[in-house]
Amino acid sequence: MATAKAIFFLGVALLSCSFIGASRALETRRSLLLPILNNGPQIFDVTKFGAVADGETDNIDAFRAAWGAACKNSTTEAKVLIPEGTYRIAQTMFAGPCSSPKPITIEVIGTVIANTDPSEYVSPEWFTFEDIDGLVLTGTGVFDGQGAAMWPFNDCKRTKNDCAPLPASLKFNKVNNSMVTGITSLNSMQFHFHIHGCSNVSLSNLNITAPGNSPNTDGMHISSSYMINVSSSVIGTGDDCISIGHSTTNLTIHNITCGPGHGISVGSLGKRPEERSVNGVSVTNCTFVNTTNGARIKTWIGTVAAEVKNITYEGIIMKDVQNPVVIDQSYGSGLSIVPSTSVWKISDVHFRKIKGTTVSNIAVSLQCSTRNPCQGVEVADVDLAYVGPLNTTFLSSCLNAKAIFGGILNPPPC
Ligand SMILES: *[C@@H]1O[C@H](CO)[C@@H](O)[C@H](O)[C@H]1NC(C)=O
Ligand SMILES: *[C@@H]1O[C@H](CO)[C@@H](O)[C@H](O)[C@H]1NC(C)=O
Ligand SMILES: *[C@@H]1O[C@H](CO)[C@@H](O)[C@H](O)[C@H]1NC(C)=O
Ligand SMILES: *[C@@H]1O[C@H](CO)[C@@H](O)[C@H](O)[C@H]1NC(C)=O
Ligand SMILES: *[C@@H]1O[C@H](CO)[C@@H](O)[C@H](O)[C@H]1NC(C)=O
Ligand SMILES: *[C@@H]1O[C@H](CO)[C@@H](O)[C@H](O)[C@H]1NC(C)=O
Ligand SMILES: *[C@@H]1O[C@H](CO)[C@@H](O)[C@H](O)[C@H]1NC(C)=O
Ligand SMILES: *[C@@H]1O[C@H](CO)[C@@H](O)[C@H](O)[C@H]1NC(C)=O
Ligand SMILES: *[C@@H]1O[C@H](CO)[C@@H](O)[C@H](O)[C@H]1NC(C)=O
Ligand SMILES: *[C@@H]1O[C@H](CO)[C@@H](O)[C@H](O)[C@H]1NC(C)=O
Ligand SMILES: *[C@@H]1O[C@H](CO)[C@@H](O)[C@H](O)[C@H]1NC(C)=O
Repeated sequence: MATAKAIFFLGVALLSCSFIGASRALETRRSLLLPILNNGPQIFDVTKFGAVADGETDNIDAFRAAWGAACKNSTTEAKVLIPEGTYRIAQTMFAGPCSSPKPITIEVIGTVIANTDPSEYVSPEWFTFEDIDGLVLTGTGVFDGQGAAMWPFNDCKRTKNDCAPLPASLKFNKVNNSMVTGITSLNSMQFHFHIHGCSNVSLSNLNITAPGNSPNTDGMHISSSYMINVSSSVIGTGDDCISIGHSTTNLTIHNITCGPGHGISVGSLGKRPEERSVNGVSVTNCTFVNTTNGARIKTWIGTVAAEVKNITYEGIIMKDVQNPVVIDQSYGSGLSIVPSTSVWKISDVHFRKIKGTTVSNIAVSLQCSTRNPCQGVEVADVDLAYVGPLNTTFLSSCLNAKAIFGGILNPPPC
């Protein structure tokens, strides 16, 4: 992170004396001085700062210069524009705070592709947006993480407890009061979106796509953030469509289509002792298609007590989902630790109005901790049809769950 920041400032400083030809430098100066048209934001087009849309040239200096000019050097509302074309770029940070008036907009029309040389990444993110109050990231463009080149370097399967994470495509760190809409994130190396330490950010109309067998390509990982709203997006990846990490509160997820993928998961939680409670997650009107899990809460056994509470999954459609409703408090420990002795406590959880089809005969699985039995888990109107291999019993399975069942129930309650 520190290195990326240092490079950022170096990038801005280099602008006036870099390899940009003399005539282009003149052109840049002139366009910077163009009068601002009408009342819209002033446009900082990356190509005016030397970006080349040939898919080959590394555009890091140009992107940093455009961001620097818009965020740090503009006195009017500013928009960084990434126009039509394919722009290759290595690890980049767009850092605030901005001195330009809120919001600062980044509009992506073209395709931005990641550098695939692992040695170019000093920390696990490709683009970082940091310390920004009032960011709008929008457009019809694509962030292509070119993950296929990096997935072979993912060692998380082999070294489960200590893997070196590959870069997330789009990291938002301490970004507040912001909006992300429209863009496509393709084939991230690891997470597509990583939202951390943010508040009041709304993400909508996104297309997040990676193959179902790509490793740890979570559509979105959200942690230590509050008032995040994810809606109206299509997410298909090789891991959780959305995973909800520790210290997340007041998160709403609405109208998401998930699949392929591992579902929308609260957790995993408790792997590290510093992980704190998750409180207030609402997942409504979502559709899961051919996912390994649907609505899932997963905690490790853990060492420091914390809680998961006030979680609602409601109005969910399952299509050929393997494990539609899951609480798993033995996550990460293999099947040997059953029943779980997790120090995490789960309460006030609602699975309501869930219908569709499942390919697993245990469609509702609530495996809570012996030490902390779940409290106030409601399962109501969960009406699923079993479409897996025939001649098995279709059932719910509960351990230390004290679940409250109601309404139409298929499979039958525990
Ligand atoms: C910052 O703005 C000043 C005055 O508007 C201009 O002369 C200078 O080139 C700008 N610097 C950058 C890095 O955009
Ligand atoms: C964002 O909000 C957090 C918590 O409210 C605050 O600590 C941080 O300074 C804010 N960041 C910006 C860039 O405003
Ligand atoms: C949330 O952010 C939006 C800008 O995206 C802003 O208009 C709104 O006032 C913010 N809400 C709160 C509660 O700060
Ligand atoms: C998402 O983007 C991919 C790649 O650009 C495209 O093939 C797919 O059709 C898009 N999906 C939606 C729902 O827009
Ligand atoms: C979430 O965002 C969507 C789309 O921007 C909006 O319609 C909805 O009202 C928001 N929900 C909440 C709870 O903020
Ligand atoms: C749900 O999301 C899709 C995009 O996936 C969008 O086309 C549709 O309008 C959204 N529906 C509602 C009711 O917001
Ligand atoms: C969560 O939202 C509720 C209702 O909007 C609000 O009262 C509460 O302060 C919020 N809590 C956090 C931690 O954001
Ligand atoms: C429960 O979480 C929702 C957000 O999902 C929030 O609006 C509500 O205020 C929370 N309720 C309590 C009692 O914390
Ligand atoms: C949720 O989905 C149901 C059924 O698809 C629909 O009737 C309802 O209007 C949706 N609610 C919202 C808030 O989009
Ligand atoms: C379901 O997912 C599996 C594994 O990701 C895949 O092999 C299969 O083709 C998918 N089926 C459908 C109908 O999409
Ligand atoms: C169904 O399974 C039971 C026990 O596993 C077996 O005895 C029975 O023959 C099976 N029935 C059919 C039609 O395969």
